[in-house]
Amino acid sequence: MKQFTGISALYFIFFLSVIFLTSCQSTEYPVDYEQLGKEERIVIRFSHVVGEDTPKGMAARKFAELVKERSNGLIEVQVFSNGTLYKDGEEMNALSRGDIQMIAPAISKLTDIVPEISVFDLPFAFNSLDEVHEYALSDIGEKLTNRLKNHNLLVAGLWDSGFKQISNSIRPIEHYSDLEGLRIRIMPSDILTKQYETLNAETKRTDFVTVFNVLQNGNVDGHENTLTNITSKNLYSLQNYITISNHGYLGYLILFNYDFWNSLPEDVQQLLTEILQEVQEWEWQLTKEMDQEKLQEIQHCAIQLHTLSEEDKLEWEEKLQPVYDYYREHYSERFIDALPKFQN
Ligand code: LMR
Repeated sequence: MKQFTGISALYFIFFLSVIFLTSCQSTEYPVDYEQLGKEERIVIRFSHVVGEDTPKGMAARKFAELVKERSNGLIEVQVFSNGTLYKDGEEMNALSRGDIQMIAPAISKLTDIVPEISVFDLPFAFNSLDEVHEYALSDIGEKLTNRLKNHNLLVAGLWDSGFKQISNSIRPIEHYSDLEGLRIRIMPSDILTKQYETLNAETKRTDFVTVFNVLQNGNVDGHENTLTNITSKNLYSLQNYITISNHGYLGYLILFNYDFWNSLPEDVQQLLTEILQEVQEWEWQLTKEMDQEKLQEIQHCAIQLHTLSEEDKLEWEEKLQPVYDYYREHYSERFIDALPKFQN
């Protein structure tokens, strides 16, 4: 409430500035808004659950810095990382209530509100991050993600975490049958449940901040995640084996509370959109680089590493066909048919 009062006051100042400035400049913010009181600025509270030293953590900080710099302090992005403000299960409700204005959840965590979005979770659906981007930005990809609008969510971008790998403390996973009987932590997505069910493994859904504990307590034997998430939380220190499988995509949709977004002046929306576009490109590149770095790093750790060959992957992919059948049967044909691998 207080914040919206602040924004109204701000709009008044903003409109005066716009009238004053439009004759000489557009979409520039030459006034030093640092002079404004805190309550007069636009404040965007941005909550996420991973560490600062991950692609998402770094992109969130870069976004905040660029917004501050290019709006001369008019807009302040407050970043809350590591689930310190809200955990996985809480951040969406907080966004709906307007307690925060921006989140960047893993796509798998949006499948309870738009189940078809789990097309991104399908095993071996994409061969590269470029393929993911192409799909997400295609007409059909945008139709799919825009379904979130019905839930008062504006999709303002896609950030990568990368491709997931599988680690565990019981045995090396070389053949898919090695997963049989293992208890694996997953994100909440029926497609991920189905994936492990098909391989005769058990699954347990937990939020990200408790993954360390469930691995440490032995409540699960292993989990799947990207190398930057695994290393940033020292999760590899609790596991004996890791398989570089690159079997599934993990990425984030950048979401704003739509009512909040619509309450922003057009110039502010435009500035945020431009910055988000720039940060997205930067983040995509960063993810590729960090993933390679973390792979080198993990090779020197006390964890046994196995890499699936291209042949192995084809075998896994074939075994996992029932997951695709499940998606077609329960969700939709067209989102799956549009995947790059079905295009040629
Ligand atoms: C997870 O829960 O494993 C990930 O979604 C965490 C994240 O946001 O990358």
